[in-house]
Amino acid sequence: MEFSEVVRRRRMVRSYTEEPVDPALVEKALEHATRAPSAGFSQGWTFVVLDRPDDVRRFWAASSDDIEEPDRWLAGMMRAPVVIVPCSIKAAYLDRYAEPDKGWTDRAERRWPMPFWDLDAAMAALLILQTVTDAGLGACFFGIVPDREVDVRRALGLPDAGDPQPIGAITIGHPSPRETGAVGSASRRRRTPWKEVAHRGRYGAGWVS
Ligand SMILES: Cc1cc2nc3c(=O)[nH]c(=O)nc-3n(C[C@H](O)[C@H](O)[C@H](O)COP(=O)(O)O)c2cc1C
Repeated sequence: MEFSEVVRRRRMVRSYTEEPVDPALVEKALEHATRAPSAGFSQGWTFVVLDRPDDVRRFWAASSDDIEEPDRWLAGMMRAPVVIVPCSIKAAYLDRYAEPDKGWTDRAERRWPMPFWDLDAAMAALLILQTVTDAGLGACFFGIVPDREVDVRRALGLPDAGDPQPIGAITIGHPSPRETGAVGSASRRRRTPWKEVAHRGRYGAGWVS
């Protein structure tokens, strides 16, 4: 698939068939994820991959209220044979930027214009979504409900707080043939054309070609 087509075709898929996912695709997605850019090449990320039914079920039991009587969203998502939980590792950035070529030896958090650790893990997550799209399968990035974070962390073998910090989760599977086109918010809202959000020269100028 052409790169532009991968970008255009990618959408969040929230309902899957039970067809297994080729483990080679999962490995490729992870390989691509680690090609993401990272501040100072810190690479402060880690990915918990759930690709066995018991592991996937444990994730859903920890992250959701009622897996026995799932609503439509949960029923569709729970069928995904693979869930990847990308996590950020803040300490890797504080350590990296305290090295001689960066020199922020005080490890002060006020120096950081953005939480680069979360930003970089999100870029890696997008590469996973795009790799799955390129292979003709579907994926959905979604948030972990704050009330459930500790349960999810325990289910994944992560510490109760701090690093590694799950930034969300990604389901991967074969899209259900019943789910065609945009669903969720994307079915109710219009995609804003780029010319409405780009500003040439200065903010507020809009786009004049
Ligand atoms: C940070 C983030 C959190 C999201 N959380 C959820 C979520 O909890 N549940 C869900 O169904 N979709 C979630 N989405 C998917 C968005 O709803 C979706 O990306 C958006 O509606 C645009 O649709 P598209 O990605 O299919 O183009 C999330 C997306 C992002 C980037």
